[in-house]
Amino acid sequence: MSRNLELFERGKQVIPGGVNSPVRAFGQVGGTPRFVKRAEGAYFWDADDKQYLDYVGSWGPAILGHAHPEVVKAVQDAAVGGLSFGAPTEGEIEIAEEICKLLPSVEQLRLVSSGTEATMSAIRLARGFTGRDLIVKFEGCYHGHSDSLLVKAGSGLLTFGNPSSGGVPADCTKHTLVLQYNDVQQLADTFKEVGDQIACVILEPIAGNMNLIKPSAEFVQALRALTEQHGALLIYDEVMTGFRVALNCAQGLHGITPDLTTLGKVVGGGMPLAAFGGRADVMAKIAPLGNVYQAGTLSGNPLAVAAGLTTLKLIQQPGFHDTLGARSAKLAAGLADAARDAGVAMSTDSVGGMFGFYFSDTVPTSYAEATRCDIARFKAFFHAMLDEGIYLAPSAYEAGFVSIAHSDALIDDTIAAARRALARL
Ligand SMILES: Cc1ncc(COP(=O)(O)O)c(C=O)c1O
Repeated sequence: MSRNLELFERGKQVIPGGVNSPVRAFGQVGGTPRFVKRAEGAYFWDADDKQYLDYVGSWGPAILGHAHPEVVKAVQDAAVGGLSFGAPTEGEIEIAEEICKLLPSVEQLRLVSSGTEATMSAIRLARGFTGRDLIVKFEGCYHGHSDSLLVKAGSGLLTFGNPSSGGVPADCTKHTLVLQYNDVQQLADTFKEVGDQIACVILEPIAGNMNLIKPSAEFVQALRALTEQHGALLIYDEVMTGFRVALNCAQGLHGITPDLTTLGKVVGGGMPLAAFGGRADVMAKIAPLGNVYQAGTLSGNPLAVAAGLTTLKLIQQPGFHDTLGARSAKLAAGLADAARDAGVAMSTDSVGGMFGFYFSDTVPTSYAEATRCDIARFKAFFHAMLDEGIYLAPSAYEAGFVSIAHSDALIDDTIAAARRALARL
């Protein structure tokens, strides 16, 4: 029996589904999850000692590749000085200064331990600041698993969300409006109707949780203009895109100044660290200055801060994001060529260190379009690539991640593997 399977069966006895986050269970693609023994650079090795070229990268954080020696050293050095204090440290100020320097929209920020905490806190803050209850999100965007955000669209234009998870009372989602990504008209209609009750709009500024989907320029400009006109806050949820799509993040690419930004993944360099921040007048509402409560025993953990700070320094090397973006673009173009040659309908896209491939003729622009892709083909391709030693996200609705350790030669190898895999579909 494969050691992966053995561990999966054993894990299931003590961990629901054998995993600590659902997508890891290979539910959509079927088969046995790969249990990671160790990882380095662009690779990880599973419990059977098989090597994989990894395009998941811990779902985004591993922008430098796994176990970058300088990041590991920073964490080791920090560990020697103590694991957690529950009292402030200079490192927390340093990383906050670094983020504020890189993101002009962020005048102040607070560190937390997960993206979920960051978005949940940002929404509470937006509600506290505006004194309003309604929030707007877009179908297919994921902002973590707090109650008010686990919603799916109902029917009709002004759709108040229905809980998308058991255990979430309808009362928790009744203030969440779910709109369609890239639908400017629906957005304008919504603001016309209830704009003065909306506390905030939260956006994946480049969506990565319904495969990779980019917003139109018109859409992001309308969002900024409408929120401003109606006194609602615009939250750019850059947990995934932050420092990955560009050094100045998606907001830099869009030329948009959001009121609040949430960060995670890259900002923690692989350790549990996330942040929310933005306008100083809004951040002043957070306790202890203001009446919006937010706290955390492990917030600003010194090991996580050390990993994050070192990562943020390393990604500021000249040309880092140009190289990363060129590698993702090369992969996307190579996959599209391979599919065309194999006579398989597949389109691809990329931005910075994120890429998407879609088993459909065109690149989707909304959740509805993303779900029209050929899932059976995705599953077959996923497993064919796994056999080739290429680890893609085990779900058709997730973006892919390239790290700086994915050299041009490794991208070429991946495209060659994709050609063989597509020929077998
Ligand atoms: C855009 C976005 N926001 C929030 C989250 C939640 O982050 P975490 O898993 O750290 O709670 C994620 C996680 O994938 C995400 O992609």
